Amino acid sequence: MSDAATPRAPAEVAIVVPTFNEVGNVARLADALRSALGELAYEVVFVDDDSTDGTRDAVAAIARADPRFRLLHRIGRRGLSTAVIEGMLSTTAPIVAVIDADLQHDERLLPDMVALLRAGEADVAVGSRYMAGGGVGTWDARRQRVSGLATRLARLITAADLSDPMSGFFAITRPALDGAVRDLSGQGYKILLDLLASSPTRLRIRELPYSFRNREAGESKLDTLIVWEYLLLLIDKLIGHIVPARFVSFMFIGGVGVFVHMGVLASLNALGTRFLVAQSVATGVAMVFNFFVNNQLTYRDRRLRGTWPVLRGLVTFMLVCAFGAVANVGIAEYLFADYAYGWFSAGLAGILVGAVWNYAASSVFTWRS
Ligand code: GDD
Ligand code: MN
Repeated sequence: MSDAATPRAPAEVAIVVPTFNEVGNVARLADALRSALGELAYEVVFVDDDSTDGTRDAVAAIARADPRFRLLHRIGRRGLSTAVIEGMLSTTAPIVAVIDADLQHDERLLPDMVALLRAGEADVAVGSRYMAGGGVGTWDARRQRVSGLATRLARLITAADLSDPMSGFFAITRPALDGAVRDLSGQGYKILLDLLASSPTRLRIRELPYSFRNREAGESKLDTLIVWEYLLLLIDKLIGHIVPARFVSFMFIGGVGVFVHMGVLASLNALGTRFLVAQSVATGVAMVFNFFVNNQLTYRDRRLRGTWPVLRGLVTFMLVCAFGAVANVGIAEYLFADYAYGWFSAGLAGILVGAVWNYAASSVFTWRS
């Protein structure tokens, strides 16, 4: 143990470890990092999103015993990318690496990654499962297909020809990080892609092969809905300077909501319900549908959970949409009656104004950040 009066050498490398419910893994990872990194001057930053399984306390115990390990505890937010970004911003080390807490990434690659960056041979070193010498362990055929498709899509936004752009295991130099950090989307969980797509200069990348290990303790946090977040990241990087990716998501879900509405209307109509009643019920159902789907997809990072927050969110959302409908009808009628617009363009303009209002107002009243 070092004397409290003796300052430690500043860290040359920081390892950022995002955690959410990884209590069975963090101590083992700390040991694995200690033996992989040896004498290197390093620090490890665990970024925990208020895990419910005691991960925070387990990390705190590690940090109390070894000052090279730190905890960054976030409350009220979830998200792999933003957790990693904040961990990276919490250190001044000239090289920053990111590794999962669940031991699926091979920490023994870290010294080679660091050596490459130190020698100035690359700005980013990436652990790859898809180059010769790498592997994905026992992934089923479906997950391999999905991952392959996502990999091809990634080329759209990064220009870089990476064998494994979806990798969450990499190291980056401070200048490369600083260049990109203000333009990061923070959307979803693909922080490496986000960094590459946000960098003003073309980063020099080197890939190193490793085998993706199987997770032994705990379970994966990434369900199929993260595919949506991935699409939002792509949209954000492709056209985010014109329209926000969230708006695209909101409009798309609204479009699907129209089909829900018409389905309910058709069914009630077939049952002989009065039109006014059927149309009202269909409108209500479509609003509820829009609320829940947007809560899952568009605002996944600010998702409302628990009975009261969800109820409050649903009520504000329906009120917002009710105002939106009034604005929609008002604008359309105004254009139609006072400006002699045709029914089609007047109707469309009303819809657009209502949609923009619903989007803007619900982001303030329903999903406040
Ligand atoms: N702080 C924080 N917040 N950490 C999170 C969150 C979150 O919302 N969600 C997941 N994590 C942490 C997990 O605790 C784990 O350490 C790491 O992020 C990866 O999560 P897993 O649930 O293990 O994901 P995976 O194994 O499916 O995904 C891995 O493979 C992908 C390649 O397809 C990750 O390495 C991804 O980064 C990688 O891109
Ligand atoms: Mn994992």
